[in-house]
Amino acid sequence: MRRPVIAGNWKLNNTTKQAAELVTLLKRDLGDVTEVDIVVCPVFTALSVMADILMESNIAIGAQNLYWEDSGAFTGEVSAPLLKEIGVQYVIIGHSERRQYFGETNQTVNKKIRAALTHGLIPIVCVGEVLEERESNKTFDVIQSQCKDSLAGLGAEEMKKIIIAYEPVWAIGTGRTATPAQAQEVHHFIRELLFKGWGEEVAQTLRIQYGGSVKPENIAELMAQPDIDGALVGGASLKAEAFVQVVKNSCALIK
Ligand code: PGA
Repeated sequence: MRRPVIAGNWKLNNTTKQAAELVTLLKRDLGDVTEVDIVVCPVFTALSVMADILMESNIAIGAQNLYWEDSGAFTGEVSAPLLKEIGVQYVIIGHSERRQYFGETNQTVNKKIRAALTHGLIPIVCVGEVLEERESNKTFDVIQSQCKDSLAGLGAEEMKKIIIAYEPVWAIGTGRTATPAQAQEVHHFIRELLFKGWGEEVAQTLRIQYGGSVKPENIAELMAQPDIDGALVGGASLKAEAFVQVVKNSCALIK
């Protein structure tokens, strides 16, 4: 039985003041949710204030990126120990926007996953195909090589701590969600890859989130799929009411 995890990826949105207001509402309205893990991922500058507000609550904090070295001459970067120090528990790694605009590769994703795990952060590792790849029937090939290269060399114990987010790039911010069947097909494929690479226990333990235009109206049917263990939510995580509804509706059909 995998515990579902719903994470809000705020991307480059919300000042610290706005972030504090939003998260105060989430804390009020989601305080009694026990069935799922809840995570919010603001920009770096809001992390510390949010961690203070959420201390001892059922909502955890995630960062949207990190660098793999702990410290040194790496201007502009933020490392795992710095995130850990202020109470961050999760970190999104390899989001398609980072792959697309900031040169993230499977190899840098791999280094970042290792750094996160070394310092006790839970990596949310993003994979997903672009529209052209889906239309030319390359989805499984792309997912396979992203998983293989991003997760290269990790041991079974490390793998059990990871979350994978399957986010078809054509569904991100477009309002065009993958159908539950399309998402399930890829989630199942990922679980088979996990089985082949790391065995039954990892395949059954590792949580796989779906991401891409998740909203209150479609979360329940996505969560009803056997291999979907939660969601990475962009746009709908920016409004308290919508995110609260996503979380509550995700609990409706706990498997
Ligand atoms: P979206 O973003 O929910 O706005 O489509 C999802 C994501 O990028 O993680």
